[in-house]
Amino acid sequence: MSNIVSDIVIAKLSDPTLPPLDLYFEALKESCEASPPPFGEQWFGNNFRSHSVDANWFADLLSRDSYMEGYSAKQIYAYAHSVENQRIAESLKRHAMDEASHSKVFVRFLCMLFPQAMDEANLAIVKGYSPDLTQINFTHTDELKESMDNDSVLSTLVQINLFEIQALFLQFLLKPCVMAYCPKEHAGAAEALCNRLISDELNHIRYTANFIQEAADSGSKDLIFSGMKDFQNYLGDLTLSELTAAKMIGG
Ligand SMILES: [Fe+2]
Ligand SMILES: [Fe+2]
Repeated sequence: MSNIVSDIVIAKLSDPTLPPLDLYFEALKESCEASPPPFGEQWFGNNFRSHSVDANWFADLLSRDSYMEGYSAKQIYAYAHSVENQRIAESLKRHAMDEASHSKVFVRFLCMLFPQAMDEANLAIVKGYSPDLTQINFTHTDELKESMDNDSVLSTLVQINLFEIQALFLQFLLKPCVMAYCPKEHAGAAEALCNRLISDELNHIRYTANFIQEAADSGSKDLIFSGMKDFQNYLGDLTLSELTAAKMIGG
């Protein structure tokens, strides 16, 4: 049995010049086989494409994506300040910076694809979604630091890793739709931005996978295998209930 999501991630991350990710790959494969992620299924892509034909729906999606990227930038940045392991904390901070800049990429898509809808008021709203991370105050996170043990950081890294895999697949679906709406004069810039989003999401999967593999090598294998299985299952249920709530599937 195999699953297209784990197959693609494993193919993209396999690099004989880098440290091996064998245990991470095994855990990912098992979790995707036990709970196939909806975003890797044919019906999900068909559903996404059929909704994307509606320009209002697609513009709204880009705006929500800009909001979500900004939101996760703040969450990850705040979390980074409560992690004691400095290697992990620094990687999380870089990750948060990427997500804050992704929020701006979605604003650029809106301006390139739907300039008529981006009046000053709308532009001000979406521009506000990207946080200035340097301005956020984190003095309150000291107490959190004490309550954070290695296992809880590891389980957060597993969750981030699986969220990033979802983000990568959504970028794969998004790119052809962005290109279909994009006026010719912006096609080169739009394609470069789509490719940057894809390569950033892959990097986010890669650095979290490295930490997960390191933990598996140092005795946390069982925790990782069960954590990945549980969260993959949770994420699949969450996606399906969000799609039902948005009336994209079901009654
Ligand atoms: Fe992102
Ligand atoms: Fe990401």
